[in-house]
Amino acid sequence: MIDHDVLIIGGGLAGSRAALSVAQNYPHLSVGLISKVHPIRSHSVAAQGGIAASLKNVDNDDWLTHAFDTIKGSDYLADQNSVQVLTQSAPEVIIDLEHLGVLFSRAEDGKIAQRPFGGHTYSRACYAADKTGHAILHELVMNLRRLGGTIYQEWYVMDLVYEDGTNGTEVKGVVAYSLETSQIEVFRAKAVLMATGGYGRVFNTTSNDLASTGDGLCLTANIGLPLQDMEFVQFHPTGLYPVGVLISEAVRGEGAYLINDLGDRFMANYPISKNRMELSPRDITSRNIACEIMEGRGINGGNYVYLDVRHLGREKILSRIPFAREEGLRLAGVDCIDHPLPVRPTAHYSMGGIPTNINCQVLGVDSQPIAGFFAAGETACVSVHGANRLGANSLLECVVFGKRAGEKLGEYVSDRPMPKIVSRPYLIDADTKLKRMLAKQGTSRIADIRQQLQDTMTEHCGIFRDDQRLKDGLQKIQTICDRYDHDLLVDDRSTVFNMELMQAIELRSLLTVGEIIMSSALSRKESRGAHSREDYPSRDDANYLKHTLGYVENGQVKTSDRPVDMSLQNIDRDRFTPQERKY
Ligand code: FUM
Repeated sequence: MIDHDVLIIGGGLAGSRAALSVAQNYPHLSVGLISKVHPIRSHSVAAQGGIAASLKNVDNDDWLTHAFDTIKGSDYLADQNSVQVLTQSAPEVIIDLEHLGVLFSRAEDGKIAQRPFGGHTYSRACYAADKTGHAILHELVMNLRRLGGTIYQEWYVMDLVYEDGTNGTEVKGVVAYSLETSQIEVFRAKAVLMATGGYGRVFNTTSNDLASTGDGLCLTANIGLPLQDMEFVQFHPTGLYPVGVLISEAVRGEGAYLINDLGDRFMANYPISKNRMELSPRDITSRNIACEIMEGRGINGGNYVYLDVRHLGREKILSRIPFAREEGLRLAGVDCIDHPLPVRPTAHYSMGGIPTNINCQVLGVDSQPIAGFFAAGETACVSVHGANRLGANSLLECVVFGKRAGEKLGEYVSDRPMPKIVSRPYLIDADTKLKRMLAKQGTSRIADIRQQLQDTMTEHCGIFRDDQRLKDGLQKIQTICDRYDHDLLVDDRSTVFNMELMQAIELRSLLTVGEIIMSSALSRKESRGAHSREDYPSRDDANYLKHTLGYVENGQVKTSDRPVDMSLQNIDRDRFTPQERKY
């Protein structure tokens, strides 16, 4: 058994920031970080456009306006106490990142540069060209190594140790296996932080990397805990066609146009986006693009529109958005200096996740904290994004709540004894699971089942939804689960970097998460933010201004709900009371 005071699952921005925060503030504590990839290959490294903060380097911004934009953008579903923490802490965490060595792009006067982003009133996205996640994650991981955090890279967490302890049922550690050697270990800790990112791979067109398979969400659902607001899936407006990789919102922040087959800047034709145009919030922009395509105004009647940057000129393109140009060239054979880029919406981000309070403690169905269990980043739902996240607020969430999680974890474990675990049954169980998986001799390849799931999610739970499509989708998922359980084929028997084995386990995560997304979407009979029900086209505050909880009980997905925090109403009733969302 391997012991750490604090154990962090996931090496992206939230996990690395949390681990670093423990190492900085509590040097006497031992912190272990487990990641199924090398930490700097975590998906956060692909984040591009920026990180929001009211630094006031460009405009006369303030945290309350940032909070207002975030809550309005969320279609009033965000918890206002969480948004207050997010936006009030933002300037300080940016300065802190700079002190850790992050090389932000600069304005003429030498201050950190800030660019406009969709749904934000002011230019508040700080950036490192269009490679912001890369710049931040590298410094976090380097600093964590410098301060002696232990990193278990290429270890896959199979189970949470969740059993009776001194504080009722509590999380005491995890069971993981090394991808390199297949060695299984129980990792014991006084507290565990889940920071495993999103689940983009549940859809067939996504900006997410191969590793975004919702593992932490599934591990949490497997122990009967709820996932919150899972129906809210963000489709980023500009995935490069046809591959789906991200063309950053920074490109529109720098002035790009969205153009349909008629050559129109079509955002002007929709009342809700005619003022903010290409810098409308993502839910609105994606819906508009989807409508253009559905109504036959995609380019040559096809499944994409154009993102045009030619008017920005070569120099600006190369200095501000070099990565977007590189991606266009490499993945679509298009040089955006001379030609518009083909784009369409792509599954990008999960607004929902593991419910937590503002101290990153995971909450059960009864909204009470689970002893020993914390979560942060995209995998968590501290509910700063509600029904729709504004661009540049996700890196911010990872850094604010990652840092805060580390501080809270340090406090939490300081007077907590190491829990008792009998490790042998866990080791035997994990060994049996792996052997059973390796013995799967059905006829269905992992890739086929995964494709079937991704097609089902895209067809039945995409940008536009309705009751019948969701019900049919749920039924299909149940059939796919059956196929997985009874007809899976795993060919590779090796014990060294057996990627097929890992993908088989990841596919189980995708199936569980897909079913919870679909069930949650079915339960919310209104349209709010990224959740557009064609059969319930209006927002319904009387019945649905509340969070959805989806959880697995006796093998069935059930749903319930919990209230939304409205505390900023006490500071500014005019702005923070739910109202129709107009831009
Ligand atoms: O478009 C982007 O660069 C993505 C940013 C974000 O998701 O916050």
